[in-house]
Amino acid sequence: MPQMDLSDIFNKATKSRIFVDRSYLRPDYIPRELPHREEMINGMGMILAAALSGARPSNIFAFGMTGTGKTAVAKYVTSALIEHASKIKTPTPIAVKLINTRENDTSYRVLAEMAAGINLKVPFTGLSVAELRARVINALKNKSIIYIVILDEIDSMIKKIGDSFLYQITRMNEEIGPSQMSLIGITNDIQLSDNLDPRIKSSLDDEQIFFPQYKAEELQDILSQRATMAFLPDVLDKDVIPYCAAIGAREHGDARRSLDLLRRAGEIAERKGKDRVTKEDVEEARESLDNDRIIDAIKSLTFDSKVLLLVLAMSKLKGKEKLTSGELYAGYDGIMDEIKGQSLTERRLTELVNFLEMSNLISANLISEGRGGRTKHIQLKTEPKRVLQSLADDPQLGDIVNMVRGSYLA
Ligand SMILES: Nc1ncnc2c1ncn2[C@@H]1O[C@H](COP(=O)(O)OP(=O)(O)O)[C@@H](O)[C@H]1O
Ligand SMILES: [Mg+2]
Repeated sequence: MPQMDLSDIFNKATKSRIFVDRSYLRPDYIPRELPHREEMINGMGMILAAALSGARPSNIFAFGMTGTGKTAVAKYVTSALIEHASKIKTPTPIAVKLINTRENDTSYRVLAEMAAGINLKVPFTGLSVAELRARVINALKNKSIIYIVILDEIDSMIKKIGDSFLYQITRMNEEIGPSQMSLIGITNDIQLSDNLDPRIKSSLDDEQIFFPQYKAEELQDILSQRATMAFLPDVLDKDVIPYCAAIGAREHGDARRSLDLLRRAGEIAERKGKDRVTKEDVEEARESLDNDRIIDAIKSLTFDSKVLLLVLAMSKLKGKEKLTSGELYAGYDGIMDEIKGQSLTERRLTELVNFLEMSNLISANLISEGRGGRTKHIQLKTEPKRVLQSLADDPQLGDIVNMVRGSYLA
């Protein structure tokens, strides 16, 4: 039987009264036009155009807050470049590889992705980084191509493994002749350029492209364009797009945030069986997305931090919102005893409390007591049920969590 497009079948089966095709609202969908990014697209296009005549394009450093269109523009311009190159006869073949260095967060993974971009097969693990690097260099030496490597979210890679590896990549171009390599470094951390090793900076900074935050009106244009394709006609109340845009604009002009809100609002309306999306649905979408964010944040914590949150959540459910550090640590020891775990020292716990406070999951206020003494009052900043929901499938804490849920959240 020939392969069929399942999305078509599934769409028909659900017969949505809201969406034509919600995938147009997905973050990885790249539209045919990117409103309000003409300047960056032209700028990047002009630099990369050198590749069409066989010259190595300058390295590019692209920076701006999350959701300002950096990845979308890089994908858009490079795929247009490849498409154009396939139509004309270029003196040198061009290859492009986008590597998300937050997901591929080791030197090995990044090099393996670089290998994949030139169809070089390498094992998933097992080689030394030096060996892997040598193989990539060798493969490039034996070709004669222009290799454009997009290193996306390099701020995250640098935080994890430092910037010496990035420096190594910037030097690779010297060893791969007759091939040539261009780098596009993308960062969400707009301070990064100032803090980079000057040698990397001078190499990556040939050309800089800054992505400013989107204003509310710009986000409205972006949302309208996607909404026309994603939704059935006339299902959006007229204040829905302006509202999603306003929220995204307030959160550093984040197009992803606005698009997520719009998609989730549509899904909420659909689940309720409605044929219209209203501002109230957006409001609900916002709560639901915030909930997801908090749950992700809690799930990514270390085990002992989770236990601390669990103590605070249980206490809050029992009607006691604020705990002193002493009470919190005693509760922590209690749980560790119960699961036969090894307690951390108070000093380590204090560090974890500080981290939880920075992550905005708890608040901790120093309160002066009589006789000049001071103590910390620690309080959960989110609802206990979110904490319990996040920890319910934890292999060590799951039993306790489900017991608590049973007695308090029946
Ligand atoms: N100008 C634009 N027009 C249409 N969609 C856009 C535009 N800018 C960003 N987007 C969309 O917003 C989301 C976030 O953009 P992205 O490029 O991933 O941001 P960044 O890489 O800067 O964090 C993506 O879904 C992208 O397609
Ligand atoms: Mg990005």
